Amino acid sequence: MSAHVLVVYYSATGSVHRLARAVAEGAESFGAEVRLRRVAELAPEEAMAANPNWAAHHRETESAVEVAELADLEWADGYAFGTPTRYGAPAAQLKQFIDTAGSLWQEGKLADKPVTAFVSSAERHGGQESTILSLNNVFYHWGAVIVPLGYTDDVVYASGGNPYGTSWPAGFPSTPPDDTALACARFQGARLARFATLLAG
Ligand SMILES: Cc1cc2nc3c(=O)[nH]c(=O)nc-3n(C[C@H](O)[C@H](O)[C@H](O)COP(=O)(O)O)c2cc1C
Repeated sequence: MSAHVLVVYYSATGSVHRLARAVAEGAESFGAEVRLRRVAELAPEEAMAANPNWAAHHRETESAVEVAELADLEWADGYAFGTPTRYGAPAAQLKQFIDTAGSLWQEGKLADKPVTAFVSSAERHGGQESTILSLNNVFYHWGAVIVPLGYTDDVVYASGGNPYGTSWPAGFPSTPPDDTALACARFQGARLARFATLLAG
């Protein structure tokens, strides 16, 4: 049986969305059955309209990518969470989804599963690691098994050398993830799928 992997993310202007697709490709390349899901947008229309890239990305993905549901968390044997950095922390949209999962947590349905995280920020030192570490706090409470990149492959060094998870410094204005970041994200997805397969077995 192939492991089930859920790649769930929030992205306002597309960087994390592109990383998420690459993580999903990596998990699929390992043979996992993958669900790629975005979390619901919570920002008011006026806020999105003030940033044309945000509004455009929202329009492009609104019907193209399904919105994550609690059933996806229950279905999966392993999770990859992606978020932009917001003041050094995860986006509220992703946290809101996580905060709806209390009943699954209570029933122990989030425990013992491998989980990994990836991030995009404007600056290389703008809080990528603190954002992933903040998500990891949630995963400790779940009793999940955190799967970091470590320095386990050359792609980690090539993409900036962050052992916590794939991290794209998008700059300002944002640039899409380059080939080294996408390769690292694919590697991270395959690595997650390997652990999901081992633990689900
Ligand atoms: C409210 C807000 C807070 C942000 N905080 C940070 C930050 O602390 N550090 C940083 O480097 N970038 C910060 N950024 C920039 C985003 O993290 C960055 O543009 C990211 O690449 C966006 O990913 P996305 O294209 O998937 O939405 C912030 C952006 C917004 C809108």
